Amino acid sequence: MSAQSGTSRKTVKDIAAAKGAIPLVCLTAYTAPMAELLDSRCDLLLVGDSVGMVVHGLPTTVGVTLEMMILHGQAVMRRSTQAFVVVDMPFGSYEAGLEQAFHNAARLMKETGCQAVKIEAGEYAAATVRHLVDRGVPVMAHVGLRPQATHVDGGFKAKGRTQAERQRVMAEAKAADGAGCFAMVIEGVAEDLAREITGSVSCPTVGIGASSACDGQILVTEDLLGLFDWTPKFVRRYADLRGEIARAVEGFAGDVRARRFPTSAETYALKGAAPAQPS
Ligand code: KIV
Repeated sequence: MSAQSGTSRKTVKDIAAAKGAIPLVCLTAYTAPMAELLDSRCDLLLVGDSVGMVVHGLPTTVGVTLEMMILHGQAVMRRSTQAFVVVDMPFGSYEAGLEQAFHNAARLMKETGCQAVKIEAGEYAAATVRHLVDRGVPVMAHVGLRPQATHVDGGFKAKGRTQAERQRVMAEAKAADGAGCFAMVIEGVAEDLAREITGSVSCPTVGIGASSACDGQILVTEDLLGLFDWTPKFVRRYADLRGEIARAVEGFAGDVRARRFPTSAETYALKGAAPAQPS
């Protein structure tokens, strides 16, 4: 029996091999056309639960469901063939117990074809990471600022600014690493803590708002494309998609109102008939 998959995606080994070597290039993707554009340019695509805020207009990621993650995961898998694809486990899909976590992680993997899941790993979640990895589910951990815990934290707040918090984030990172995660996102922490974590764990670290001290970087793609009028301090905008879209839509609206669109070149005609003259 042939074991060929028809694609040459990066594997968990490729991601792990990046530790301390070439920086990992990671971006979020939620849709098929975006996945197609990013695929060959990134090492890892994350179908993040940020989809709830970026695409569905939710105020936080707390309202995101497993079904939403499955639909977006399927779209990204359909149009990518090279990048390693990770799908986020949303709030409420893994915290209740080990069985729940495996059941939902297996659904994500079977129904999307993704290669790994990500969980926001407080220290308590190390048992979940171990349980999933032992059963064949590669896990990316997410430590530091954990958006799913926003209601406990009272907002999206950078982490590790007090000694107690530093120790807590460090403990989270070491616990997830010890439990076998293949990589970890570090979000919203100061540079020295990111450096200390990166130097202390065996897996590659991927920073978002966590300085250049990490083994790779991830951003929300729509942020770097300039789709929003506000972005956090740590985002660099590489394009002004918001301005481009506004200009394009204003152009369309002006042409429609002035009857400049559509022209005969953009209109179907009977075969052999002379094109209609503008009235
Ligand atoms: O959900 C997400 O997009 C994420 C990244 C910001 C790391 O977790």
